[in-house]
Amino acid sequence: MRARLISFDCDADGQIIANHLDDGGLVCDNGRISQLMSAADYAAQGFALSEIEDLRPCIIFPGFVDTHLHMPQLGIIASYSAQLLDWLERYAFPAESAYADSAYAALQAQTFLDRVVASGTTCAQVFTTVYAHSCEHLFAAAQAKGMALVAGKVMMDRNAPEALTQEAQACIRDCEQLIHKWHGKDRLQYALTPRFAITSTDAQLALCGELLQGHADLLLQTHLSENHEEIAEVGRLFPKANDYLDVYENHGLNTAQATFAHGIHLSESERQRLIDAGAKVAFCPSSNLFLGSGLLDMAALRAHNLSIASDVGGGTGLSMLHTCAEGYKVAQLQNQRFHPLQAFYAITAGNAKTLGLAAQIGQLQPGFMADLVVLNPTKPSGLGERFHRCEDLTEELFALMMLSDDRSVERCYIAGRLAYGATG
Ligand code: GUN
Ligand code: ZN
Repeated sequence: MRARLISFDCDADGQIIANHLDDGGLVCDNGRISQLMSAADYAAQGFALSEIEDLRPCIIFPGFVDTHLHMPQLGIIASYSAQLLDWLERYAFPAESAYADSAYAALQAQTFLDRVVASGTTCAQVFTTVYAHSCEHLFAAAQAKGMALVAGKVMMDRNAPEALTQEAQACIRDCEQLIHKWHGKDRLQYALTPRFAITSTDAQLALCGELLQGHADLLLQTHLSENHEEIAEVGRLFPKANDYLDVYENHGLNTAQATFAHGIHLSESERQRLIDAGAKVAFCPSSNLFLGSGLLDMAALRAHNLSIASDVGGGTGLSMLHTCAEGYKVAQLQNQRFHPLQAFYAITAGNAKTLGLAAQIGQLQPGFMADLVVLNPTKPSGLGERFHRCEDLTEELFALMMLSDDRSVERCYIAGRLAYGATG
């Protein structure tokens, strides 16, 4: 393919670099990028440019990576309510209960992944539901797409509707079976998924910790310090814990394998302990604004510990560009900066690193998997008009981040195969 090619890297000093070919040629072979060079070099090597498909003015980026979202919440995006705990009761839990029906869960898994890919996201870390079959269906759908996916079944043994809770030992047995069947298969990885401290007993978190410690390559995803009411409830349920993170720490869950969604209201000590452990925080700006959870102090968390995520359905859209636009506004409200290079690095190579996939995805380099998103900067029309006035790459990236979303996604490729959009 011939197009503008843009990807991002981070040097040893934490400086973000854009690798940009204004007119580039990209060739895929066997699921990976095999060649990447300027169109001029391509022609100089004797290749006929007329034989490769010309996608200009489209831009090819590495497919976007979302480090935190909920499969069963796609249909309840933008549900009107009070803050987190009310929203969970009124919308999230009922939506998740519907997944007791395996046929429904299978259909929804397919729809969910189709929508994720149509938004430009080619890799994600996903909460399914308490029902093991919902996780099975999602893994099977991702496998059929050849997609890199991290997922886990939700672990809850209290403070949720009875249909969504499961005795701790039985839950661990389900997790072990899923790990055995799916973890490390093709491009799939398992993440242990205790929902948050409120819905797990100490006994469940202890079993989760044992399982995590027994499998160095497993991932863990949960929620942390998102909402004031939630934090107060954690204090009541775990009176011996020094703070919210301590609840997880006590069971060995604060590790480099973990992604903690939100982490808005952390103390300095909690932040430092997360950084020391190499754990990641998933910044979910769209969700944090929608649920009124608060403004994450991005500057206080070192770049390598911070990923960015849609948190659908608390977040109001799957697009990682929309997510970055909301992140920019969260930063502005605190007089902080979220530079477009930082944002694009975060949704590509940065988030890939969070999921342990930095050597495989997130960059346009020979040898990397050909997970690609093709963005059309002339769509929607508002973006097109702004884009024409941009004077450099930074301005262009900023316009894309603020004005683009899934409407600009022309195509997506997963492992070199067209997974969304049309050719020709
Ligand atoms: N905390 C516990 N569960 C959830 C959830 O489903 N969404 C969000 N945003 N926060 C949570
Ligand atoms: Zn979440």
